[in-house]
Amino acid sequence: MAILVFGSINEDVIIPLERRPAAGETVLGSEVTLGQGGKGANQAAAAAAAAGVEVRMVGAVGADGAGNRALQALTVAGVETDLVATLEDARTGTAYVHVTPDGENSIVVVPGANHAVDGTLLGQLQPALSASDVVIVQTEIGSAGADAAAELASGNGARLVLNAAPVIPLTRETYSACDPLVVNEHEARDIAGIDPFVQDPTILAEAVRRVSGARSVVVTLGAKGCIVFDANKQYLVPGESARVVDTTGAGDVFVGTLAARLALGDQLERAATSANAAGARAVTWQGAREVIPAHATSRGSTC
Ligand code: RIB
Repeated sequence: MAILVFGSINEDVIIPLERRPAAGETVLGSEVTLGQGGKGANQAAAAAAAAGVEVRMVGAVGADGAGNRALQALTVAGVETDLVATLEDARTGTAYVHVTPDGENSIVVVPGANHAVDGTLLGQLQPALSASDVVIVQTEIGSAGADAAAELASGNGARLVLNAAPVIPLTRETYSACDPLVVNEHEARDIAGIDPFVQDPTILAEAVRRVSGARSVVVTLGAKGCIVFDANKQYLVPGESARVVDTTGAGDVFVGTLAARLALGDQLERAATSANAAGARAVTWQGAREVIPAHATSRGSTC
């Protein structure tokens, strides 16, 4: 089974903080670590962890040290990188990740080379794209890239899993091809135009499905699990509890695992159960990607 991931590749600059600064305030961080990141690359690595799927990444990095490290880490994670462009005139995307002791994060992304993933680049890559069973797209690459990738997926008859993180303008065609559209509660509110005081996730999921026109919708709810809206039926897929160290990238592990299970033939509800379990595990390690010691396996990622 083949998965193609169109998306962002970042180097994460991780700064643990006691608390986030208010506007105009300065706080001290304890240390700085570099980690592998980018929603696209994280999702690709998570999908590649499933046995029986081949994962290929489509994206762009700069011709710099961060780009080299990102490509190497993807390869170690079992992801094919032959369709990742290395650009001389752009820097590899950088994400500044602040993590507080409760494991919550806030992230600022400077996209750099990621914004070169547009229709023109995809057009150049098209001859090298083979049919894939599932295409994963997220939106850190920008509207032009995400719409072009979705169009390519539809044209190839692939199943489109779109993670609207962050929420950006996308065409009606892109939304209606999603099967599923995956969003967290904030993103769901943005898409549906619903007030923050509406807390009922079933109302959110219903509204996202109606407004987006997506074939199916998954709204992730953190430890509570997720709401799946499929074939006009809605159900809660309960989550698993875990000791939270760092929530960074847990949503990406959810999406990558969900897509892998769909590619392997699971129904959406069953795939969401596996994705919940993988997402719960992902909050127990530091950083967006699990660092597996080299002696434990040859398929782990490095930071
Ligand atoms: O979802 C987490 C990811 O978001 C981080 O790895 C960071 O690179 C940003 O893209």
